[in-house]
Amino acid sequence: MVGEIHPRKKQGFKIFSNGLELAVKILEILEKNKDMILAREQVFKGGNYYQKSKEIATIITNEVGRRLGVIDRIIEEAQGEELKKSSSLLRSALRVGSYLVYFDRKEPAGILAAMKPFLEKKGGIGLIKRLSYVLRKVSKYKPKVKADIEAVCFWYYFFPEWITRKMIESFGEEKTIKIMEEMNKTPYMSVRVNTRKISKEDLARILGERYQYELEIVKDMPFLKLEKNYPVMKIEEYEKGFFTVQDFVTAAGIKKMIYKLPEGATVLDCCSAPGRKLSYLMQERNDLKVFAMDISLERLKRMIRDFKRLGIELPYIIKGTATKVPLKIEFDFVHLDVPCSGSGTWGKHPERRWLTEEDHFKECIIIQREILKEASRLTKKDGYILYSTCSLWKEENEDNISWFLSENRDFELIEEERSYPVRASTGFYHAILRKT
Ligand SMILES: C[S@@+](CC[C@H](N)C(=O)[O-])C[C@H]1O[C@@H](n2cnc3c(N)ncnc32)[C@H](O)[C@@H]1O
Repeated sequence: MVGEIHPRKKQGFKIFSNGLELAVKILEILEKNKDMILAREQVFKGGNYYQKSKEIATIITNEVGRRLGVIDRIIEEAQGEELKKSSSLLRSALRVGSYLVYFDRKEPAGILAAMKPFLEKKGGIGLIKRLSYVLRKVSKYKPKVKADIEAVCFWYYFFPEWITRKMIESFGEEKTIKIMEEMNKTPYMSVRVNTRKISKEDLARILGERYQYELEIVKDMPFLKLEKNYPVMKIEEYEKGFFTVQDFVTAAGIKKMIYKLPEGATVLDCCSAPGRKLSYLMQERNDLKVFAMDISLERLKRMIRDFKRLGIELPYIIKGTATKVPLKIEFDFVHLDVPCSGSGTWGKHPERRWLTEEDHFKECIIIQREILKEASRLTKKDGYILYSTCSLWKEENEDNISWFLSENRDFELIEEERSYPVRASTGFYHAILRKT
């Protein structure tokens, strides 16, 4: 996967070695902040690195992240000792090295040579010796795989056993395998065209002709589907606010609301930041009176920056919790894109399948229900609630809606829809409710 660079050629060696150094640093930060995107941002902005080294580090950390628990098991069984006893630096170097040796079939000696220049400075000769010993063991390691579905999903699809059990309970074996396969495919990228500034045909032509992006126009929505993860946020058309990065699958509920809402409707978006769904609604409907809230100031600031870039008027902004909204008015539309377990995003963010706690979704349900309860008070008669999550679990989706309807007899379910991951797209659920 990272094999185009020949480690023995001088320049290529340096680029490769720097790539491994960056990957190790990213994994060290990931241990603390549990957020791969932020960890990469933090490491990449800190120095003057080759673009190619950053690309190598991105590929390696993505693939290590996908296999995190599997790699840890390989290392622990190979060295006969728990990884938690090692320093964060050694653990991260072992993870990078073991991925390259076991999954990418690289020679331990070549990997050690590439890691030596930076590890020697930070960890000393003892760390290099340990790494050398373990990588040689890993190169000869053969797992004893049991013939059961949990073992298959662990070793071949890289999912922890508890996720396999939970998916099988929800979807059965065949669908579980299908979801895992799709989550492991190379993701496509999707961008929403800012139709206030440019048509989707014109943007498609620019991206195709000027940047040679392979793309398709999405039918009936202002979206383009790009074949892969192009660096779209670095081009001038992004700066000009011609588009925003957004998975069109997650815009399905808002698309319906664009057509349902009456002229001049009042809107409260309770978990709005960074505002992708809201800016879609507002770019298509400039007649709405909108309040946007979120608990995170950082994310609200990102939202404001993005609205300015897109040239969309800012809503009234409230920083606070949607479980206790400081407003006494009622709205035609209350949007609840609630915090959730994120189990539908394990294709795009593969490391999160290893970093998420098994019981995390139970905490999410408590907040989701409190937010739903508060929304019932804030919805006008004949008004709508759009509830959505990027979770696969029915406890956060259909079960929450059934619970809400049983507690609120004055609401009816208009429609609900689920989409499952395809080429690592987001697994998404939405329900539209109306107050009668
Ligand atoms: C799924 S994200 C929202 C994405 C956003 N709707 C968009 O389209 O870009 C969930 C959001 O809920 C926010 N959040 C978490 N707990 C909250 C709470 N108690 N009240 C309000 N917002 C909350 C998070 O900060 C996060 O921004």
